Amino acid sequence: MLGSLLLLWISFCLLFFLIKTRRPKNFPPGPRPFPIFGNLLQLNLENPISDLNKLSERYGKVFSFFFGGRPAVIISGLQPMKEALVTKSVDFAGRPNGLLLTHLTQGKGVIMADYGASWREHRRFALMTMKNFGLGKQSMEERILGEISHVSSILERNHGKCIDPQTLFHNAACDIICVILFGHRYDYEDSFFQAMVTMMAENSKIANGPWGMIYDTLPLLRSLPLPFQKAINDYNTVKLHTLGIVEQHKKTRVPGEPRDIIDCYLDEIEKRNQNGSLFDEDQMASFLLDLLFAGTDTTSNTLRTSFLYLMTHPEVQERCQKEIDEVLGEKLEASFEDRHRMPYTQAMIHEAQRVANTLPLSVFHCTIKDTELMGYKIPKGTLIIPNLSSVLNEESQWKFPHDFNPSNFLNDEGEFVKPEAFIPFSVGPRMCLGEGLARMELFLILVTLLRRFHFFWPEDGGVPDYTPVFGVTQAPKPYRLGVRLRGRQGCDGTVGTKQRVN
Ligand code: HEM
Ligand SMILES: *[C@@H]1O[C@H](CO)[C@@H](O)[C@H](O)[C@H]1NC(C)=O
Ligand SMILES: *[C@@H]1O[C@H](CO)[C@@H](O)[C@H](O)[C@H]1NC(C)=O
Repeated sequence: MLGSLLLLWISFCLLFFLIKTRRPKNFPPGPRPFPIFGNLLQLNLENPISDLNKLSERYGKVFSFFFGGRPAVIISGLQPMKEALVTKSVDFAGRPNGLLLTHLTQGKGVIMADYGASWREHRRFALMTMKNFGLGKQSMEERILGEISHVSSILERNHGKCIDPQTLFHNAACDIICVILFGHRYDYEDSFFQAMVTMMAENSKIANGPWGMIYDTLPLLRSLPLPFQKAINDYNTVKLHTLGIVEQHKKTRVPGEPRDIIDCYLDEIEKRNQNGSLFDEDQMASFLLDLLFAGTDTTSNTLRTSFLYLMTHPEVQERCQKEIDEVLGEKLEASFEDRHRMPYTQAMIHEAQRVANTLPLSVFHCTIKDTELMGYKIPKGTLIIPNLSSVLNEESQWKFPHDFNPSNFLNDEGEFVKPEAFIPFSVGPRMCLGEGLARMELFLILVTLLRRFHFFWPEDGGVPDYTPVFGVTQAPKPYRLGVRLRGRQGCDGTVGTKQRVN
């Protein structure tokens, strides 16, 4: 029964797409698409990107590809990227609809919202509330430092041992967002917190994997009971729970005295209490989940990459520690301002972000009108894939494109400089709105932990493998992190010289 239905569908679409999958005139070059599947059959679904890589070698900086009947253009290199995302920013500022991710969020919130009033207002609201984070009595910095103290005490307990830092960094990054959104952190053991973290990890696995690809390209299969249904259910579970937290807030809030982003949003709903307001509770739920999703994997994967390279480049680690000790002296805690006096550490963090290449293909864009790029015609509704890795590794842009070397961000005087090709947060009107927060987190976490601990590659750790595991957010392979309190020798805990005293 199912089989014959499928067959019927397939023959129907075959007809449909035979007419439909035509290459627009003067479209960027690319492989010839088949009906229905487009170029899907030319990809290995387990790792579509490795095949796309081959195509990019063959067709150049701007090439096309068909995901099912949907035309896509992949952009590489700084110059075409700037033309699309900066010079013609509005033309390229849409988001594709009809992807699994769009359906999960129903196009609400920020990340997958199409270019338009709702996206713009929510983006502005998010930037403003996060910037004015004098919310309540605690600054953003204090909130982050508060979370770091938990990470620190866990590492301390593991002095002399080796741990897999994946869960720890994931929990910490997620908790920092929870503090900002919900006004409190969760214990790493809390059952809701664990469910949420697991759901996010699993959903990104599904959205990234073959099932996500099938969902995105073959709309006819979407109602079948396939694994992407689990993603949808999980998403709705967390959404319901989040709405529960919102209900709690309504009971305890004092209007005009927000404690966190939920309170700010509730104030905003009241302020805008008029017809057709773009702010309502359904929007709020997607908005909150967007920030949770966007801020967790990205930050924690970047941290894991940073520590991988710090462990295996002890000379870089030591130089950072020396600089940090000198600048902080007897100060109790680091502050984000200190970065101006730490050019080498700043360079290390940026270099870690460059090699981490956390969102290699950014978030997909979509053209909102007919436009041109590098002389090619790109029709409205084309899926746009910005290849950020191509810019972060572009040979003409970097002194050491293929190494881990903080000198990529230092001039001859040893001052920190940021090359134009440093775009891990993308560029243009869609660029990451959490950049400020992410940079503060990376700086405070790395500086605080490097000041207190020495990190080493385990003796039995084998040869470090830097090849990342591909995903929408890319991560290093699991590894073990050797931790030692600084100023001590070996694992036996013999106390050596204490840190330098000013
Ligand atoms: C190291 C950490 C991070 C990296 C590398 C990163 C990178 C990115 C990139 C490449 C995009 C896509 C931009 C585009 O479509 O052109 C993006 C979008 C976004 N990021 Fe981040 N991000 C990070 C952390 C965060 C954090 C901590 C938050 C939130 C609190 C956040 C919130 C967002 C949001 C809401 C968007 C969608 C913006 C829009 O569509 O207008 N990100 N991020
Ligand atoms: C993205 O750029 C990298 C680095 O230049 C390249 O190796 C890869 O093939 C490109 N990927 C795609 C999908 O175009
Ligand atoms: C809202 O819209 C309805 C019909 O569209 C109208 O009758 C009503 O007066 C409006 N209310 C406000 C507060 O603008």
